[in-house]
Amino acid sequence: LFVIVFGRQTRCVKWRCGCGHVWRLLSLLLCFSPLVSGHIRYSIPEEMKKGSLIGNVAQDLGLDLKRLRSGRARIVSGESIQYTELKADKGTLVVNERIDREQLCGDVTPCSFSFEIILENPMELHQVTVEITDINDHSPVFKRNRINFEISEGAVIGVRFALNSAEDQDVGVNGLKEYFLTENENFILKQNSNADGKKYAEMVLQKPLDRETNPSLSLKLIAVDGGTPQRSGTVNIDITVLDVNDNAPVFNQSVYKATVLENSPKDTYVITVNASDADHGSNGVVTYHFSDLDSSLLNVFTINEETGIISIKGSIDYEKDKKYELRIEAKDQGGLTDLSKVIIEVTDVNDNAPTISVMSFTSPVSEDSPPGTTIGIINVKDLDSGDNGQVNCKIEENSPFKIKSNLRNYYTLVTDTVLDREGVSDYNITVVATDSGLPPLSVRRTFHLKVSDVNDNAPVFLQSVYNTFITENNSPGLSVLTLRAKDPDENQNARVSYILEETNVGGSPISDFVSVNAESGVVHAVRSFDYEQIKELLFVVKAQDGGSPPLSSNVTVKILIQDQNDNPPQVLYPVQTGGSVVAEMVPRSADVGYLVTKVVAVDVDSGQNAWLSYKLQKATDRALFEVGLQNGEIRTIRQVSDKDAVKQRLTVIVEDNGQPSRSATVIVNVAVADSFPEVLSEFTDFTHDKEYKDNLTFYLVLALAVVSFLFITCLVVIISVKIYRWRQSRILYQSKLPVIPYYPPRYSDTLGTGTLPHVYNYEVCRTTDSRKSDCKFGRAGSQNVLIMEPSSTGTMQRIQSDRNILDEPDSPLEVSL
Ligand SMILES: *[C@@H]1O[C@H](CO)[C@@H](O)[C@H](O)[C@H]1NC(C)=O
Ligand SMILES: *[C@@H]1O[C@H](CO)[C@@H](O)[C@H](O)[C@H]1NC(C)=O
Ligand SMILES: *[C@@H]1O[C@H](CO)[C@@H](O)[C@H](O)[C@H]1NC(C)=O
Ligand SMILES: *[C@@H]1O[C@H](CO)[C@@H](O)[C@H](O)[C@H]1NC(C)=O
Repeated sequence: LFVIVFGRQTRCVKWRCGCGHVWRLLSLLLCFSPLVSGHIRYSIPEEMKKGSLIGNVAQDLGLDLKRLRSGRARIVSGESIQYTELKADKGTLVVNERIDREQLCGDVTPCSFSFEIILENPMELHQVTVEITDINDHSPVFKRNRINFEISEGAVIGVRFALNSAEDQDVGVNGLKEYFLTENENFILKQNSNADGKKYAEMVLQKPLDRETNPSLSLKLIAVDGGTPQRSGTVNIDITVLDVNDNAPVFNQSVYKATVLENSPKDTYVITVNASDADHGSNGVVTYHFSDLDSSLLNVFTINEETGIISIKGSIDYEKDKKYELRIEAKDQGGLTDLSKVIIEVTDVNDNAPTISVMSFTSPVSEDSPPGTTIGIINVKDLDSGDNGQVNCKIEENSPFKIKSNLRNYYTLVTDTVLDREGVSDYNITVVATDSGLPPLSVRRTFHLKVSDVNDNAPVFLQSVYNTFITENNSPGLSVLTLRAKDPDENQNARVSYILEETNVGGSPISDFVSVNAESGVVHAVRSFDYEQIKELLFVVKAQDGGSPPLSSNVTVKILIQDQNDNPPQVLYPVQTGGSVVAEMVPRSADVGYLVTKVVAVDVDSGQNAWLSYKLQKATDRALFEVGLQNGEIRTIRQVSDKDAVKQRLTVIVEDNGQPSRSATVIVNVAVADSFPEVLSEFTDFTHDKEYKDNLTFYLVLALAVVSFLFITCLVVIISVKIYRWRQSRILYQSKLPVIPYYPPRYSDTLGTGTLPHVYNYEVCRTTDSRKSDCKFGRAGSQNVLIMEPSSTGTMQRIQSDRNILDEPDSPLEVSL
């Protein structure tokens, strides 16, 4: 038995020093005292149920149950006796209470407790040792369930991080065996043991952390024991990766392209550049700048430092810059940078109107220029490009010109038809240049073209024929009519001269009759016309312009001379003879209506002016004769009687119908007698000489008286002057002053002769029976003689010896009675 017990004991690993051992040794010794009959050992696992059998004591001690009963076997003295109970009736030892090895022994192994079973009568003492073996009833446990690390991503490889240890209350194989770390790239686990055999673990960085890929790591540390079944404990390891500025900003494009319209207003959005920085926080804040920007562009574009928005700051003119290239830098707070390019293309806008410049322009242009004559060359430009710069040129109004494009941007302005200055003398040619933009812009330019004259038009008379009237006896130089010819040409080509074409009128050249003022076209009468000689003038006037060669046209001018009542009727019968007396005989037996005679008169005037009427002006016996008003026939109107005088004297007046009328009188002597001797006797004193002689005598006496009076007056004046001069000379001689002779103004020194130096004038003023009172002034040097014919009918004639007074234009002399 003992051996068995010891055999079991050999399973104990160690003995530990301590009082307990000493005490056990003593009790062991006691066991070997005569009282101690046996020592048994049992080994049971911990945590057995209450009542579980530990061992059959009776059997193991070789005692029967009676003995046990009689011996009143019981457990006495000992440690931890509460765990076991002795069932005396069965002789077994059972578990009385749950046995926790860890509580009972802690770390101590082997773990056992001992007690004595005592029997009385005879007293027997048996020692029982119960060894409690460990079972894996505890897991490894970490003190904290979470471990936090903050590790910079810049941490170098090999850095170690201590991890908390786990504890396992079990012992032996059931105790903590090893640690595991969840699979990861960055860390490996390194396990160590303390001197006391306690195991701990460390994390070692084997691959650098990158916050940008993995800002945090979540790992698990697992501790396992060696029991079966195995138990484990876990702790979470949270690793926060701290940022380091290890990333430069990166533009999302290496080149940005944008287009912008020219003339875009300020603040127009162009493009956004974007650089991202993988870093965190301030390390990832990117700002944008222009890099190495041309200073001229500084005023054109601006970039928002934070947002990267590029917008327009100044003016963009396609015509100046068609493309911009900007370099942009993105920078983080740590000074790391990236560069990119922005290419901005400017889109043309139709903001430039075409311009017209004149290369040459000829004005005036001659009206005989053929169609197609070049007037001007213009150049048209548009600063815009593409369609916006595509210029089309045309002439605005409907004009006889066209515009031709020969070279690019060059246009020639040519005439399209023949020009006529007389139709249109100047043109405003408006050229419009329009580009093809949307909306199109245009510019217009007006050319003022003058058409110069060519002598292509002959003068034209306003009338095809000129007819006019002029009254005879006109004053020479009288303007008859004005010819007008027009020439539509200009200046010298339109300067019309009027030329009288030579013809003959009645044998003398036309220029003897009329003249034409070359400038004014006024036709003048050169002389006084006499209707009785010329009734009309027909001539041709040429109008000629001053061109080279000159052009001309003709017109026929017809001047009709109108009659004036300038000739009195002339009595042809009865013939008026000087001195002799003619008488018509009327027999006393003549009946009523007897045709005595017929007065025949003519008038060289024409028309009304020659329409004669006859009237009886005076008659010895008015009741006897009448004169036919129209025909001038003198007829008796009553029976001639014996009482009628033989001598009958009739005065017949012949008048024309002119205005005023002119007349002539004729005296008709009629003898009423049956025989010629009777007539003769009567007519011997049939004279009116007596009356005439009386008149003559009177005139002679009057003339004598006048001459005598003048002579005496002269004598008196001369004597008075003589006396006056003699007295003057006496006074001057005494005062010794020079003698100044004095002459009365009207008298020259013809004193000695005593005759009148001047031919003296006389005037005859006579009132006729007509309404007019004409004064006739004789001229010095001309001898006017009034002749009173003894047989005159009273018509006064004036004879001028040297010339006909009627031809004198300023002599309005008329003879009328
Ligand atoms: C820059 O680009 C990234 C990705 O391309 C985007 O997520 C971010 O919002 C952009 N930033 C701006 C300011 O547009
Ligand atoms: C870059 O960023 C800008 C601004 O956010 C965006 O408009 C553009 O599409 C981005 N380009 C790429 C290639 O992602
Ligand atoms: C041309 O223009 C000028 C100035 O505007 C004007 O005086 C003239 O009358 C115009 N001539 C014609 C033929 O229209
Ligand atoms: C005008 O008349 C003259 C002679 O009378 C003649 O020689 C000339 O040809 C005429 N001219 C015209 C244009 O009729």
